[in-house]
Amino acid sequence: MEAKLDAIYTSTEKEISSAAGLDDLEALRVRVLGRKGELTQILRSLGSSSPEDRARIGQKSNAIKEKIEALLEARKNQLLNSRINSLVEEEWIDVTLNPRELTIPPRRGHLHPLSLLQYEIEDILGSMGFAILDGPETENDYYNFEALNIPPHHPARDMQDTFWTEDGNLLRTHTSAIQIRGMERVKPPFRMAGPGRVFRYEATDASHEHTFYQIEGMMVDREISVSHLIYVMKQVLAGIFKREVEVRLRPSYYPFVEPGFDLDFRCMICGGGGCAVCKHVGWIEFLGCGLVHPNVLAKGGIDPEQWSGFAFGMGLNRLIMMQYGIKDIRHFQSGDLRFVHQF
Ligand code: PHE
Repeated sequence: MEAKLDAIYTSTEKEISSAAGLDDLEALRVRVLGRKGELTQILRSLGSSSPEDRARIGQKSNAIKEKIEALLEARKNQLLNSRINSLVEEEWIDVTLNPRELTIPPRRGHLHPLSLLQYEIEDILGSMGFAILDGPETENDYYNFEALNIPPHHPARDMQDTFWTEDGNLLRTHTSAIQIRGMERVKPPFRMAGPGRVFRYEATDASHEHTFYQIEGMMVDREISVSHLIYVMKQVLAGIFKREVEVRLRPSYYPFVEPGFDLDFRCMICGGGGCAVCKHVGWIEFLGCGLVHPNVLAKGGIDPEQWSGFAFGMGLNRLIMMQYGIKDIRHFQSGDLRFVHQF
C-alpha cells in the first residue's frame, strides 16, 4: 500500500512538471485527487486495515496529497506566468514611437483645377449680383439650338459638332442652353451665370477635347449696352489675374447675339510684346459675347422692346492652360493623379 502511494507520488510529480497547459494540470488533479481519484481511492480502502496501518497510511497519504497540491499550485503559477510573458512579448507596443512613422501619411484631398477656377469666377460674378444657375448636360434641341435662334438646317449648327442621343436629344454643346432655362425661371431685370460641362463631337488632340467646361453669363435690364459687357468682363479678368487687364472686342458671329464679338485680353505673359503663349499676337482669345438677340429674349418670354441684355460664354480649360503653361488639354480628364496633385 505504501509502495503504491510512493509510486503515485513519483509519477504524478513527473506529470506535473511536464504538463503543457492549465487544462492538462486540472485533468491531472481530478485523476489523482478527485472524488474518484487514485489517492482518494486508497484512503477509502483503508476501512479494512488495522488501526495502526490506517493511522500511518492515512498520515502518509495526506502528506502526499498536500505535496501534490503544492506542486500543482506551483506549476499552475509557472504556466500562468509564461503565458503572460508570451502575451507581453507578442502584443508589445512601443508607446514612444511616433505614430506617423508607422503609417503611410494620408493624402489630403483637394479641388480639381477646373473646380478651383469655376468657383473663383462664380465668386467674382456673384459679387456683382449674378445668380448661379444650373442646367442638364443632356439637353434637347430646343434649349441648345432652336430657342437660341439656331433653327433646324441653320448653317450655324455646323459650328458646334454635336453628340446626338438615340432618342433625338443631345449633349449640350455650350452652356448657352442655360440662358433659356434661366429666362423661364426669373423675370428681368436679372444677372445670372451658368457653369457646366459641355460636349463637342471632335477629334481630340493637344488643344481639342470632346468634353470641356464653360461659364455662361447673362444680364438683362433696361438699356444694356456693350459698355456694360466690357465693364463686367474687365472685372472678371481683374478678379482672376489680380490686376487690371486690357481687353479688345473683335466682331464675330453667334446667332444668339447681335452684335456678336470675340473678346481678347492683353497677354499676361509678355504684356503684349508677343510670346509663345499668345502665339506672338500680344492678345489672348478669351470668350464669345454680345448683346442678346431680340429673338432669344422673346423665346425667354421677355419683351425685347422693353429690355435688353448681354451674354458671354467663356471656356475654362484654355484659361487654366495659359495660366499654368499646360501644353495638353487632355490632361484635365486623364485621371492622372500626377497632374491633379500639382494644384
Ligand atoms: N456659346 C458660345 C460658344 O460656346 C459662346 C457665347 C456665349 C457667345 C454667349 C456669345 C454669347 O462658342
